[in-house]
Amino acid sequence: MICLGIEGTAHTFGMGIVDSAGRVLANPTKTYFPEKGGIHPREAAQFHAANAKLVLEEALRAARIEIEDIDLVAFSQGPGLGPVLRTTATAARALAVWLGVPIVGVNHCIAHIEIGRLTEAAKDPVTLYVSGGNTQVIAFDAGRYRVFGETIDIPVGNCLDVFAREVGRPHPGGPIVEKLAKAGKNYLPLPYVVKGMDLSFSGLLTEAIRKHREGANINDLCYSLQETAFAALVEVTERALAHTEKKELLLTGGVAANGRLREMLKLMAREQRAKFYVPPRELCGDQGAMIAWNGILAYKSGFRQSIKDTKVKQRWRTDEVEVTWRRS
Ligand code: ATP
Ligand code: FE2
Repeated sequence: MICLGIEGTAHTFGMGIVDSAGRVLANPTKTYFPEKGGIHPREAAQFHAANAKLVLEEALRAARIEIEDIDLVAFSQGPGLGPVLRTTATAARALAVWLGVPIVGVNHCIAHIEIGRLTEAAKDPVTLYVSGGNTQVIAFDAGRYRVFGETIDIPVGNCLDVFAREVGRPHPGGPIVEKLAKAGKNYLPLPYVVKGMDLSFSGLLTEAIRKHREGANINDLCYSLQETAFAALVEVTERALAHTEKKELLLTGGVAANGRLREMLKLMAREQRAKFYVPPRELCGDQGAMIAWNGILAYKSGFRQSIKDTKVKQRWRTDEVEVTWRRS
């Protein structure tokens, strides 16, 4: 079985082609960058609509298949930005109906985990999913993916992006902050906020921007921002590992590219006697292959969806998803 997976929840539009053996045959993406400021949902949706045909052609070419070879269409049904989700769902419905093949709506956050379970040896990990739009600590428990901890305000990637923007650096901020942090020497105290199992990064962001305006050294600031934000992520993830007694840790999302975060998690995992996994970078960010693979898992487990059930779910929570393809 060959599945076309369509991802479109935020900046990135992607189409992945994956077969039922778990081979990723193609995975092109196109990313919308706002000229200035944050993401504009309607502009992003227009960008995706304008690029959909191109990305599809590129995917078919890379996979060396014809469009008629597609047996299943999967798409990111949520969570995400309304206009972007609706554009993605429209493309998926049109293709599924035209090809006469089944359609499967996939949860974006869970798809990140499933592609990690495919490419890494991790079978039942605690997952730290960190990106520009999400920050969650997730683990499978009693038939569902449960959120053990999450941000109560902004995602950690967004914190890095906004900080960079405020100090006059281009988007995305994560890689820039990482680079500057390497030259940082002094730790400048910043608010560290962990409430129970939840995280908060907005106070940290405000204080870092304030310190910049007061003339703090930019390298020291980036270093301190990373150390503070990542220590909070590590603390909550460590507690989720200890609580669930799982022995695998999976890091994914765009922020997984960060070397310092990887280093800190690796150390913690060793202390917890857990194995640490990070999927290849191109499968950590948003892309269609993860949607396609999750679509195959759901379909093979007997999940079926009619077109009228493909309405987008902007706030679809990870723990609301019926995980028909996993028992334990
Ligand atoms: P999602 O829809 O899952 O929230 P996204 O639209 O944020 O995803 P991703 O590609 O998953 O897209 O992640 C982008 C984020 O990753 C940005 O916030 C970016 O700054 C961050 N990032 C990328 N590289 C690094 C890095 N080296 N260190 C820290 N953050 C990074
Ligand atoms: Fe994502």
